[in-house]
Amino acid sequence: MTEAKFRSSGRRKFLQDTAALGGAAALGGFAPAIARAQARKVRVGLMLPYSGTYTQLGIAIENGFRLAIAENGGNIAGREIEYVKLDDESNPAKATDNANKLVTGDKVDILVGTVHSGVQAGMLKIVRETGVLHIGPNAGLNAMTTALCAPNMFRTSFANSQVSYPMGKVLAERRVKNAVTLTWKYSAGEESVNGFKDAFTKGGGKIMRDLWIPFPNVEFQSLLTEIASLKPEAVYVFFAGGGAAKFLRDYQAAGLKGKIPLYGAGFLTDGILEAAGVAEAAEGVETTLHYGDGIDTAKNNAFRLSYAKAYKLQPDVYAVQGYDAGLLFVAGMKAVKGDIGNRKAMIAAMEKAEIDSPRGRWRMSKAHNPVQDFYLRKVVGKENKVIGVAAKSLDYPPASLCKMA
Ligand code: PHB
Repeated sequence: MTEAKFRSSGRRKFLQDTAALGGAAALGGFAPAIARAQARKVRVGLMLPYSGTYTQLGIAIENGFRLAIAENGGNIAGREIEYVKLDDESNPAKATDNANKLVTGDKVDILVGTVHSGVQAGMLKIVRETGVLHIGPNAGLNAMTTALCAPNMFRTSFANSQVSYPMGKVLAERRVKNAVTLTWKYSAGEESVNGFKDAFTKGGGKIMRDLWIPFPNVEFQSLLTEIASLKPEAVYVFFAGGGAAKFLRDYQAAGLKGKIPLYGAGFLTDGILEAAGVAEAAEGVETTLHYGDGIDTAKNNAFRLSYAKAYKLQPDVYAVQGYDAGLLFVAGMKAVKGDIGNRKAMIAAMEKAEIDSPRGRWRMSKAHNPVQDFYLRKVVGKENKVIGVAAKSLDYPPASLCKMA
């Protein structure tokens, strides 16, 4: 969106807000009307997958977001929060309609979501057209914080290539000579594989073959047979949620576990180690991610305890990203004393916020993407154990690719 359009959508919003106050302002003057407007609940739109292979990811993000708000006393700067939820089904074909429904239909004050990069791309059209305030709590679509970046859009998660680049770097440093990649055929899988390849081939590694399967398909058999016959030194995959659990079990059942080492973006093993048979299948698998269960800091320990108490579930990276989205929202709202219509000040505060996250403290890049460390993790029992730091403060793809309008 151009700067002019962005500003005019902000002005339109201001006019809508003041029009809604019209009658009261005429009777009682402006100040009480503003007080009443401030007392109106702030509407948070949650556009997330609540069905399909990414269901647990959507739930964890919502839980994390709500926990951050609850820790703040359930409201922010005197404003109560009202949630409007929408199941996006991880279906890109419905994404713009769904986002439009929340923004134009339900008139949410802020749109939070989503998980799937293809759905995120559709959401971004509406976010850029309307100028609605937006926080992305997962989908790593690179373009969101490069070519398509915009002042009203923030991300509390990662860029897809940012997560995989460190894994390629680690394997190249270990002098692994060749690898096969395998992922779902959609933007997140492609960007994840590209980030891995960039670092791996720069460091001297060779890619033997790139294998693909349509999203959200989980019929891995013929691909596993192909891997067995190619006999690479390493396999790099991007899978997540229910699909990742099935893949890990199938890899073991095909007899590949222990024969051909498996690596991935950390989503491969996050949030699923409690599911039947998965921890055994995943034992020893190494991944890179901006979070690890066992990060031994006061902040992470307190977060894990309160999340487990509140939801009777173990938190994972998605819960952390949702929680951080809540923290970012709180930081912005506090800066404007609950006046979410004061967009310029709210955006400025969100840009400056330092997020005290369970993953470690982080700040936004100029492109509104976290600059953060990436851990090397290994599955030990039911834990994604941190065994090293694979990349420090990684800004990739670089924020310089974003030209903020
Ligand atoms: C994505 O589509 O960007 C995506 C989905 C699930 C993940 C990570 C990234 O765990």
